[in-house]
Amino acid sequence: AANGAKAGKSRNIVERLEESGKNCIIFYGSQTGTAEDYASRLAKEGKSRFGLETMVADLEEFDFDNLDAIPTDKLVMFVLATYGEGEPTDNAVEFYEFITGDSPSFTLDNETPLGNLNYVAFGLGNNTYEHYNSMVRNVDKALQKLGAHRIGESGEGDDGAGTMEEDFLAWKDPMWMALADKMGLEEREAVYEPIFGISDRDTLTRDDAEVYLGEPNKMHLDGTPKGPFNAHNPYVAPIQKSYELFNVKGRNCLHIDVDISGSNLTYQTGDHIAIWPTNAGDEVNRFLDIFDLTSKRHDVISVKALEPTAKVPFPTPTTFDAIVRYHMEICAPVSRQFLATLAAFAPDDESKAEATKLGSDKDYFHSKVNVHYLNIARLLSTVSKGKKWTNVPFSALIEGITKLQPRYYSISSSSLEHPKTISITAVVESQDLPGREDPFRGVSTNYLLALKEKQNADPSPNAFGLTYEIAGPRNKYDGIHTPVHVRHSNFKLPSDPSKPVIMVGPGTGVAPFRGFVRERKKMVENGQSVGKTILFFGCRKSAEDFIYEKEWEEAKQVLGDKFELVVAFSREGPKKVYVQHRLKEYAKEINTLLEEKAYFYVCGDAANMAREVNSVLGQILSSERNISEAKAEEIVKQMRASNQYQEDVWS
Ligand code: 2AM
Repeated sequence: AANGAKAGKSRNIVERLEESGKNCIIFYGSQTGTAEDYASRLAKEGKSRFGLETMVADLEEFDFDNLDAIPTDKLVMFVLATYGEGEPTDNAVEFYEFITGDSPSFTLDNETPLGNLNYVAFGLGNNTYEHYNSMVRNVDKALQKLGAHRIGESGEGDDGAGTMEEDFLAWKDPMWMALADKMGLEEREAVYEPIFGISDRDTLTRDDAEVYLGEPNKMHLDGTPKGPFNAHNPYVAPIQKSYELFNVKGRNCLHIDVDISGSNLTYQTGDHIAIWPTNAGDEVNRFLDIFDLTSKRHDVISVKALEPTAKVPFPTPTTFDAIVRYHMEICAPVSRQFLATLAAFAPDDESKAEATKLGSDKDYFHSKVNVHYLNIARLLSTVSKGKKWTNVPFSALIEGITKLQPRYYSISSSSLEHPKTISITAVVESQDLPGREDPFRGVSTNYLLALKEKQNADPSPNAFGLTYEIAGPRNKYDGIHTPVHVRHSNFKLPSDPSKPVIMVGPGTGVAPFRGFVRERKKMVENGQSVGKTILFFGCRKSAEDFIYEKEWEEAKQVLGDKFELVVAFSREGPKKVYVQHRLKEYAKEINTLLEEKAYFYVCGDAANMAREVNSVLGQILSSERNISEAKAEEIVKQMRASNQYQEDVWS
């Protein structure tokens, strides 16, 4: 209720449609912003191609008990991401529970209360997880059961296969055709109409106190940030300590301790911390340059929504520089549709033809753009051979580029041991690619590396020379701070410390298990007794990336027989040795521990490792218990369902 109420807006869908004169409402259930972006794109396309009066809406800001009062000449679209283990995104929890609940209460009390409702559905999922796209599937099923009419197919995008964007494009065209047909809409020539108006604030300079230079909201601008700190309001936390964990040139793994003692933030071992990154200065420069904004970068501007239902995704007045640096995901993969939109503003006919071709030819786009990980500025520069794209309206960039998203990391400290310090363990992402002079670099981990170098005032030999202007209200902070918030997770040690645990975490997948092991160590130091604690860890070479080696020894000193570390070094012998190979060697013990109700945890790469570990566990149970593999797999499934088997995985 908080959100809608805060904005002073009604939570009643029908009222909101009427009051704003809209006939199509596009709801999103979004965690990382992609679903929200797709919703905006559908809104824009519906308006420009078919004259629909569209509005985008956050599921969290509405009530759904009068979905049955939406008339047949209006339309509802759902763009729904599935999160983690088949869960709704945070903002979709209430809607999901309502619509899939036993008996959602509508005014119309009959078998098909939604008989008047026309809807469209698209889901965002990841096939490397179980429960693929379960949100859209379950919502679609629930809506049908309540008598609603779906227009077109229910679409499903797959992030696991890396085809999300193409799945979306392939789904939406037939959907629009079906929709035009059903609603009797005429398609028209799409003309670009800006959603945001940009005005110069000539009387202001970037030194004026009311100008936002990266501060996420008014409290931060005023220098009086107050909790609750959350996904809308980060805490700008000091970095307490940071150091390198690898012992090898060219690869970095950061350990960072974030101090939350100045805030009311809390966490529990196994939770996630969100880091709000800043874009690398070099990429900001490249972006401003290709759109010919370099000379205006520090001009103060205000941005206003020209559409009453659109929201400006950052606070203003601000500067082009601040928007691009702190609020735009300028290094993300480019959408083919966005490039096609920009083609209209190309600097010459040749560039326009090339941009149009790239925009319409999936395979060509893949070979020219995706394989080189080109971001928008790099791509446009290639397309126009360096000519600047002076004519692109800034509104088109705000509309077409995702807002910069916080990144989540599995916390690697124990809240029992350090309730006010959160540790992060992260490999710095850097990838050499064919056809590129410089490697592709991950946004957030390279930002963290820059923080570490700044803090230690001693750029390590691995420094990439990327420049950063760290977000912080006007140097009130020394730059060795980062905006953060905490997200609670279900990845938890058993509440009974005497239960055994088996943990599988190769690479930085070991992060939460560092927290688990330290927690049990602390328990023993406090005089408690703990159950068997086995950690399977894997890395390339013992001398290079065997992280926290000393800490495991220290844990052993305290935990004795209760702690066992089993390592798999993949690049030391003639054959690869992975954690799952070592698991097999421990089949007997693992089976015994599971019979004693041990908890089994996996953290790390979802696509390969976690799947293989899952299937190896099935094989272990099958051979140790002398049961069929099918039966063993069934047991593994049940373990998952009862939370005896827990995953914290990413792709
Ligand atoms: P590799 O890079 O030598 O193949 C941490 O990244 C460790 O996980 C490395 O030792 C890496 O080995 C290993 N690894 C790579 N793929 C894996 C998989 N499918 N299952 C388990 N471990 C894997």
